[in-house]
Amino acid sequence: MSSGASVGAGCAVPAGFAAALIAWQRVHGRHGLPWQSTRDPYVVWLSEVMLQQTQVSTVLTYFPRFLLRFPDVRALASASTDEVMALWSGLGYYSRARNLHRCAQMVVTEHGGEFPRFASALATLPGIGESTAAAIAAFCHGEKISIVDGNVRRVLSRLLAYSGDLSMASAQKELSLLAQALVPKTTFGDDMSAYTQGLMDLGATVCTRSRPLCERCPVSELCRARAAGIAEQFPVKTRKTKRRHETWWLLLAKRVLRSGQIQWWLLRRPARGIWAGLYCAPVFESEVRLMDTLDAAQREEVQLLEPVSHSLTHRELRLQPLLLEIAEPCAAVPAGEGQWVSERDLHAHGMPAPLRALLMAQAQQPAAPVQGAAPAR
Ligand code: ADE
Repeated sequence: MSSGASVGAGCAVPAGFAAALIAWQRVHGRHGLPWQSTRDPYVVWLSEVMLQQTQVSTVLTYFPRFLLRFPDVRALASASTDEVMALWSGLGYYSRARNLHRCAQMVVTEHGGEFPRFASALATLPGIGESTAAAIAAFCHGEKISIVDGNVRRVLSRLLAYSGDLSMASAQKELSLLAQALVPKTTFGDDMSAYTQGLMDLGATVCTRSRPLCERCPVSELCRARAAGIAEQFPVKTRKTKRRHETWWLLLAKRVLRSGQIQWWLLRRPARGIWAGLYCAPVFESEVRLMDTLDAAQREEVQLLEPVSHSLTHRELRLQPLLLEIAEPCAAVPAGEGQWVSERDLHAHGMPAPLRALLMAQAQQPAAPVQGAAPAR
């Protein structure tokens, strides 16, 4: 193992890491992604926010659409929240879209339409955490600062056999200092772009959570966990994110007008919490609660559809849809707040992806009720 430079965090970092990573990225890393051909902070910021919790393959379809509609920060800042949410619809983690919009407005009103240059200032804007700020500053301006997201923590905890418990903020902070100590001291041209992208690429394609491809790793010779044959024991994390299991009962109230036009009864979710601000079918915590809002005839009519599983960061949702079809002569509307939204206008309404999929499935085929009694509550 090479000798290391000592850092304040009490751990030595191996020399040669940055050079090996940069050389590897230039040959084996990911290239040709649409956000890699620019140093425009707006474009890089947009891509990094989209990539925060979403796979590259998904972002590749949303990113050009978003840029076409909002080619620069001023266009995004002056858009309506509804339009931003509608274009984001399906990407999930909708607080990102709200922060994106607020951030664009702050860049225009407080920074004259220019993103701040340094990561420290970028990180004060809504939705830009320290790692995203570092990515933007490194990609656009070559700032010598390290990204430290979940993938990078995994890579570095293995490289250094870092045994601190990363469910603790103090250990995360210590690892961030070590990450910073690994950044190349001298850089040429776009070295910081290659280094930053290299960290991302290594975590995504080689130093994977399970069964890492150590034989393909450009820094395997420097990796302390590999040397000890215990790569998969890192990162150390004692507290895992526990997901609560919940069933949400969704009332899919559908109205068919005499013209044949289909409408859905939707309401806007509260400004805070899950799916905040999105349009959604009424949600109930139990079948009884849902049935309480219907009259006797509607209770007879309602059809139980196949449930859908949906994972959120802290929750595992079982979405149980009930379909209620209302013919036009009947003036009744479901109890509670809401509005009828035409099927052809659904695309313009920001909506949780699983609900959109449920409504689309209903449009494509006549309702297929599940046979038998409703499942136990
Ligand atoms: N994940 C976060 N940022 C990324 C980027 N720039 N390229 C690929 N994956 C990423």
